[in-house]
Amino acid sequence: MSTHLTVVTHPLVQHKLTLMRKTETSTASFRQLLREISLLLAYEVTRELDLTQTTITTPMCEMQAPILEGKKLALISILRAGNGLMDGILELIPAARVGFVGLYRDPQTLQPVEYYCKLPASLEERMTIVVDPMLATGNSSVAALDLVKAKGAKNIRFLCLLASPEGVERMRQAHPDVPVITAALDEGLNDHGYIIPGLGDAGDRMFGTK
Ligand code: URA
Repeated sequence: MSTHLTVVTHPLVQHKLTLMRKTETSTASFRQLLREISLLLAYEVTRELDLTQTTITTPMCEMQAPILEGKKLALISILRAGNGLMDGILELIPAARVGFVGLYRDPQTLQPVEYYCKLPASLEERMTIVVDPMLATGNSSVAALDLVKAKGAKNIRFLCLLASPEGVERMRQAHPDVPVITAALDEGLNDHGYIIPGLGDAGDRMFGTK
């Protein structure tokens, strides 16, 4: 599999993901687990943020201390399931700028069609993290990255909970410069584009819809 993929194998991530996959896990537990796992994934996806030095005064003395460099990072949620993953990350990075991309699948062409797009300014100066729990066919992820790049983003990461080999390959072909970070690479897709073994419809599971 491609080198632009990182699977976060941390035991806490893997344990929580197993609980999320189980059919009998309730909406409330699913949401709570997603929040917890997103904090751990945020830790991994922000690993390469640049630091600079600033002078501060502790109760003891002055010192040079590290702080994040540059503009606040941007988090872009692919509606609607991306919001569940984004909420947890925002707890860790509350000053992040936030954007949303809404796409639906045209029933005739099966291609993603944009119905909403609101992105933060100055994306070219920010690390931009695009989030969607499920990288399945990759069609909407690729389309969302097209939009984010058209608005100027250059330093981009794609964060998901589960990925399919098909989705990862599609992303690698369309956006080889965008690292993909996931908690698991599953076996593949079924005829409806759902990830197998997966966890079902992430949006339905987190919002309690059917
Ligand atoms: N979207 C989901 O919510 N689940 C899948 O398995 C694939 C796409």
